[in-house]
Order: sequence, then C-alpha cells, then structure tokens
Amino acid sequence: MESFSGKTAVVTGAASGIGFALAERFAREGMRVVLADIEEAALDSAVGRITATGAEAIGVVTDVSKAADVTALAERARSKFGSVHVVCNNAGVFAGGLLWEESLADYQWLMDVNIWGVIHGIRTFIPIMLEQDTECHLVNTASMAALCAMPYAGIYHMTKHAVLALSESLYHELEVTSDKVKVSVLCPELIKTGIGTCERNRPAEYSKPGDIVESDARQLVLDSINESIQTAIDPSVMADRVIAAIRSGTFYILSDDGWRETAHQRMEDIRAGQNPALAPPV
Ligand SMILES: NC(=O)c1ccc[n+]([C@@H]2O[C@H](COP(=O)([O-])OP(=O)(O)OC[C@H]3O[C@@H](n4cnc5c(N)ncnc54)[C@H](O)[C@@H]3O)[C@@H](O)[C@H]2O)c1
Repeated sequence: MESFSGKTAVVTGAASGIGFALAERFAREGMRVVLADIEEAALDSAVGRITATGAEAIGVVTDVSKAADVTALAERARSKFGSVHVVCNNAGVFAGGLLWEESLADYQWLMDVNIWGVIHGIRTFIPIMLEQDTECHLVNTASMAALCAMPYAGIYHMTKHAVLALSESLYHELEVTSDKVKVSVLCPELIKTGIGTCERNRPAEYSKPGDIVESDARQLVLDSINESIQTAIDPSVMADRVIAAIRSGTFYILSDDGWRETAHQRMEDIRAGQNPALAPPV
C-alpha cells in the first residue's frame, strides 16, 4: 500500500504503548483511526489526544477475546468510516512464572487475549477486506518471543508462537487468494510501554481467588521487565517499522538487536539436532 491518506485504520490495544503509537502515526499519515481497547478511560484519553491534532478518530471499547466485541468493532468502524484498510491486531498481555506454578487462569487469560484476539481479528476483518477488493493490510503483533523460547515466560512465548504461525499461514493463503490484501507480523523487542503493568486490565473472570499465584519466579520476571523497560525503545519506532512494512509489503517486521541472534541460535540448534541453548539477547 503506497498511500494512507483518507483511508481507515483499526488498532486494538490502542489506548497504550505500541497500539497508541500506531494509531497516532496512522493519524499523522492522514488516516481515519478507530481505536479499540478494553480500558475505557485510557481509551477516551487516547482518542482525545489524537482528535486534538485535528485527525478523525473514534474509540470503541472492545475485549478482543470476545468474538462478538470484534464483530461490533468492525460494524462500528464501517458504519462510521465506510471501509477498513489497515487493521492491527495488537492487544496483548503478559504473565510470567514457572509453567507448573502458573494458574489455569494465567494460561486462559493469555491464550484468550493474545491468540483468540488475533483469531477474531482475522476471522472478522479478512472477509471484509476481500469483499471490499481494495488494497488492505492486516498487521498482527507477535513478539521476538515468537522466535525463541526463554524460561519464566513460557505461556507468553507459546501465545506469540501461535500468532506467528497464524500469520505465516495467513500470508500463504492470501498469496493464492488476493493480490490486494496483505499481512505482516510485528515482532517487537523490549519496548517502553505499559506491558509490565498489564494486570491492570486483567478481567474478574481470571482474577478469582487462586488465579494470581504469588511466586518468586513471577516476581523476578515482573521486576526484571519493569526495570529494563525504563530504558527500552520508544513505541514510535514500532510505528515507523509498521508504516515502512505496509508500504513495501514486508511480512516480517523484526527487531534489529540481539533477539535476532537468539532466534538464529534456536534455528541452528534445531538444524543441528542440539538441545536448546539458553541464549538471552545481549
Ligand atoms: N512492550 C514490549 O516490550 C513488547 C514486546 C513484544 C511484543 N509486545 C506486544 O505488543 C502488544 C502491545 O503491548 P504493549 O507493550 O503496547 O502494552 P500496553 O500494556 O502498553 O498496551 C496493551 C493494550 O492492550 C489493551 N488490552 C489488554 N487486554 C485487552 C483486551 N482483552 N481487549 C482489548 N484490549 C486489551 C490494554 O488495555 C492496553 O491498552 C502486545 O501484543 C504485546 O504482547 C510488546
């Protein structure tokens, strides 16, 4: 897609972090933007910041784990702006800990938001894009965690691997179905966002007694994220990468840092039949 001006973008998880940076950047490109998020107050303020620049934007409170919410999001976007040209399935959450200590609710929450959110986005928006028969682009936010598997974040790695696999299969399916609808997968490294405090939006259904396990491993991961995120990359860098990838039709939107080497090492281990090396990025 060469030009963005006058087209419509839908971004989930748009009230904060990478999603907000994407929404802000699409608005600067002259797009009309639909911001979707589960956190209503933050969403209202995000929409306000974008409309204050003179851009056209609306907010739709959406829980991406619910198919009906994503259907309603698409209906609202189309009733307001007519067509949808760019969709970013970006909402995501994190929980850390040891795989055998984490609760079933931890597993369920991450799978519902990180995997089902993307599935609902694909099942809702790809048919709309194909029917429109205009140039369109879907971007799924995975992570560099989709390209390697580290300890203490196994559920997150699993969900992001699923997003990568869904995106790769979708790429091949679109290649033989449409010359107008494209897909990319965004694999951020550590970015300065609200991900370290994502439990702020953990719904009650995953927060019953026993659902949140206080463990040393969980605390270790949270402390480590919240410390390193302070000096992490600004989310606007992800927006720049996404715009460039949509323009050039690039599928993998990858980090340039040591995570890429870590992912490479993993592939080398598989190729050579070696046990997995623990190779955290430097
Ligand atoms: N920050 C990083 O270092 C990093 C690295 C790799 C991948 N990612 C991915 O980037 C994406 C965006 O995360 P972020 O880092 O900007 O975090 P963030 O917490 O700043 O933003 C995530 C947004 O998603 C929203 N959200 C949570 N649950 C939702 C739901 N059920 N429905 C709709 N919205 C929901 C939150 O309210 C929040 O506004 C996620 O998919 C995350 O996994 C982040």
